Amino acid sequence: MNLFEQVTAAPPDPILGLTEAFRNDPNPDKINLTVGVYQDATGTAPVLDCVREAEKRLAAANGSKSYLPINGHPDYIGHTQKLVFGEGDERIQTGCIASAHTPGGTGGLRLAGDFVRQCLGQRTIWVSNPTWANHQGIFSRADLDIAVYPYYNVDSHDLNVEGMITVLEDIPENDVVLFHACCHNPTGVDPSEEIWKTIAKVCKERRLLPIIDFAYQGFATGWIDDAVAIRAFSEYGMEFLVCSSFSKNFGLYQDRVGTLHVVAKNPGESKRILSQLKVLVRTNYSNPPAHGSAIVSTVLNDRDLTQQWEEELKAMRTRINSVREQFVDGLSKAGAPGDFSFIKEQMGMFSFSGLTPGQVQYLRDQYSIYIVKSGRINVAGVNDRNIDRLCSAIADSLKM
Ligand code: LMR
Repeated sequence: MNLFEQVTAAPPDPILGLTEAFRNDPNPDKINLTVGVYQDATGTAPVLDCVREAEKRLAAANGSKSYLPINGHPDYIGHTQKLVFGEGDERIQTGCIASAHTPGGTGGLRLAGDFVRQCLGQRTIWVSNPTWANHQGIFSRADLDIAVYPYYNVDSHDLNVEGMITVLEDIPENDVVLFHACCHNPTGVDPSEEIWKTIAKVCKERRLLPIIDFAYQGFATGWIDDAVAIRAFSEYGMEFLVCSSFSKNFGLYQDRVGTLHVVAKNPGESKRILSQLKVLVRTNYSNPPAHGSAIVSTVLNDRDLTQQWEEELKAMRTRINSVREQFVDGLSKAGAPGDFSFIKEQMGMFSFSGLTPGQVQYLRDQYSIYIVKSGRINVAGVNDRNIDRLCSAIADSLKM
């Protein structure tokens, strides 16, 4: 018997696997609305101008390719802490936040999972129903059990506040609970500031440990406003973790640049936590990739480039919101049965359309339109060239 004969084939990834299928589809009219990558009006995933300029400066500076510190470059860490917690946050000044540059937000989530399992001995993590298709995989590979709390009302397309709070109030002390800071993936439905305060209060009273997945900072209403959840947990003086990412808001998807922040009560604890994060990183990927973090630091070290970044981020957000309007109008013009105006209320890159797995499969088979099985559509992938075809195909699928 061959040594590898026992290896069984794994199913394709529910999101990235669809990109592979899309690439192999010969239909010239195919449409890819799967992975959460921002596309502009021409259907391309642009490199931001501020990033191009930063790369030019980095190339001219001819820096070193030596290893970064295990938890990343201090300059980068300083910038990411300020973006997430706010410039004047006292916990930054006093050293209460242990931060490690991770390979993307996903790397941060896995490091968070390893930390809570190995260093805190936690067993269970609660995730929203639904949640990003990769969350369960990441945390179960970190040896955590997955439990779910209600999040979304399928019929009214809004937040199931009562269901969520009732379950949170019942979660055993010290369990870990995962939240999406904004632009909830896949629903696009976020708690209001008031509801975040209630969530934080319940977590505080129940002594729960929140992990906040902050992958879309700046895609809801602006990078400062989007930190509302962070402020809510901070106001309650809580210990919590944040996994932030520059994939979307800097368009640095392939550079894998994100951060895990662990907010501790005092600098002594934070120091010990950082020492443990370093062990977890060193025994996994040793130290983080440098290029993306150097870009982020170059942009955020320069006032003009920072302003340019804010404008480019706003332009992405504005385009997505205007596509939402066109999409809803297009569905109505195409005669799609039902009221889709809820799509206009959703935040971030995705529209949780309500399409069933059967309708999603029909769109793929009949029209070469690729959508995630949950019915999640990447709105940024919709443009003037594909919107009519998309809307009439969806209208057709809804008549199935
Ligand atoms: C998504 O949800 O499509 C993105 O977060 C990209 C990914 O890695 O799945």
